[in-house]
Amino acid sequence: MLTRRMIARLAGASFLALSIAAPAFAEPIVIKFSHVVAPETPKGKGAAKFEELAEKYTNGAVDVEIYPNSQLYKDKEELEALQLGAVQMLAPSLAKFGPLGVQDFEVFDLPYMFPDYEALHKVTQGEVGKMLLDKLQDKGITGLAYWDNGFKIMSANSPINMPDDFLGLKMRIQSSKVLEAQMNALGAVPQVMAFSEVYQALQTGVVDGAENPPSNMLTQKINEVQKYATVSNHGYLGYAVIVNKKFWDDLPDEVRAGLEKAMVEATDYANGIAKEENDKALETMKAAGTTEFHDLSSEELAAWKEALAPVQDEMADRIGPETIAAVKAATGQ
Ligand code: LMR
Repeated sequence: MLTRRMIARLAGASFLALSIAAPAFAEPIVIKFSHVVAPETPKGKGAAKFEELAEKYTNGAVDVEIYPNSQLYKDKEELEALQLGAVQMLAPSLAKFGPLGVQDFEVFDLPYMFPDYEALHKVTQGEVGKMLLDKLQDKGITGLAYWDNGFKIMSANSPINMPDDFLGLKMRIQSSKVLEAQMNALGAVPQVMAFSEVYQALQTGVVDGAENPPSNMLTQKINEVQKYATVSNHGYLGYAVIVNKKFWDDLPDEVRAGLEKAMVEATDYANGIAKEENDKALETMKAAGTTEFHDLSSEELAAWKEALAPVQDEMADRIGPETIAAVKAATGQ
């Protein structure tokens, strides 16, 4: 005769057998993917593509929930939330890893370091990029991929055609010491500020100007509160897609494999659309007519390069001379 205790044990065992044999009945593993930009940016679209593919390749074992527009967390908070496990996935700008103690990523912020996407990809899609992502492991973070946004333009409420035009302007920057040095080199006053606060800060005059790729500028409506912009392409803004390391390591192998496949494809997609999205955003803002866009003449470009050249030496110790050398070697400089 079966005792009550035996029945309970049997029930437990068959439940266990059922949950292993039929994972479709199990609750999906939730991946909260938080980010600070609009869904219709290269990063927003990349995240949506990852959601679609991740759910497909894991047969629904994973449910990706995307939280755009700083809905959950602002810049600094989101990295803390990832480390604490409150969210599982982020794609912060490479300019935001300094406060975490991984300053090497600020190499991507060096003015005029990368002439185009092709040069950049030699780093982000090669050994140097991998070496940089590996540095995040100590922080409890696993780096999965690099996603492009694009090359930055400067904006302000007064013309900024020459370096001298920046004198005394309060310029919003991301939390990167290299960007701070860049603005100082132009004679501007850099001010670190979360991305979600930029529009209002420009509108109320807390800061005079900012820098961002066109896709971010347009989707935050920054062109509505900036009279002038210079298409300087003076620096790059892109992302590292990162996950909480413990969460990632604890995933069942077949689930992780499905997510890796989804990430490879979402990365190709995101990097494939970034340039076009930015080109289109620039055209849209030009057509909107609220901002006057200026292209640098060759003399102006030479003056910008000259003014910004000292930043590299100034920041070499912070970034790590070997990281700068590795990036230069990879890009043939
Ligand atoms: C910014 O803060 O300007 C950008 O990093 C926002 C983003 O994620 O593209």
